[in-house]
Amino acid sequence: MDYQNIQLENLNEKVVLLTVNRPKKLNALDNLTIAELHQALVALENDATCRVLVITGSGEKAFVAGADIAEFSNFTSKEGAELARKGQDTLFDFIENYSKPVIAAVNGFALGGGLELAMACHFRYASENAKLGLPEVSLGLIPGYGGTQRLPQLVGKGRAMELILSGNMIAAEVALTYGLVNKVVAQEQLISSCLEIANKITQNAPNSMKAAISAINAGFSEGMNGYDSEIEIFGSCFGTEDFKEGTTAFLEKRKPNFQ
Ligand code: COA
Repeated sequence: MDYQNIQLENLNEKVVLLTVNRPKKLNALDNLTIAELHQALVALENDATCRVLVITGSGEKAFVAGADIAEFSNFTSKEGAELARKGQDTLFDFIENYSKPVIAAVNGFALGGGLELAMACHFRYASENAKLGLPEVSLGLIPGYGGTQRLPQLVGKGRAMELILSGNMIAAEVALTYGLVNKVVAQEQLISSCLEIANKITQNAPNSMKAAISAINAGFSEGMNGYDSEIEIFGSCFGTEDFKEGTTAFLEKRKPNFQ
């Protein structure tokens, strides 16, 4: 499959790097980019060899500098709501509920939709030069790709209020103290650091990755009881080949070989 605004690269046989590739627009998310990311995610979900995804932005300046402002500058209220709905369904919620771990490698500006993309990923590593913020209020908007929900989940309500109402950008080191990113490294080490944790993840049972993501997300989903979901999902693990292999390997004192 040929894509115009994204690139796919195998970092090794189990880890795929997905790069948003519009460097001249600081990787801003236009319609096509969102559609291509969705297509690639669907294809990789069906590709059993791919176990972990890393998402980054092209170049050294930006992860993603937001939704493409030029594209929605003439929108009506209805079109605006549709933009947010479609984006959330096809990309942001889609990543949050993806069956394989998705890591954001935040390599520069992660603003607006860019920070929302990073927050939809399961966790984030950042380079020292990264700057993160939700500046939508400076455009007469609010975050529309889940930012008003995921930022308070990650950093707490007070800090989220401050960041969203001020539109301030924070540096990577501050994002680290907030828990918004899990690790900060030099830019040239960003992908290798993501690969290191991705490799550790690929040694674990693929079904357990999917199950853990569902159980963790259940606690943040309206109308769901996370503890009840955990019990149900925990039980369902017992019926899997991964469980058989994992427990058998332990008892036989060997490393598991998950398919
Ligand atoms: N949407 C559309 N285009 C964008 C963009 C966005 N979110 N962010 C950057 N670009 C474009 C610029 O318009 C410019 O295009 P041009 O060269 O055709 O004029 C190009 O990317 C480079 O950006 P520029 O602003 O010249 O770079 P800078 O180094 O001076 O500033 C930023 C970098 C990130 C501070 C600045 O681009 C910015 O504020 N971007 C918008 C951030 C934002 O509000 N995001 C939330 C959107 S919901």
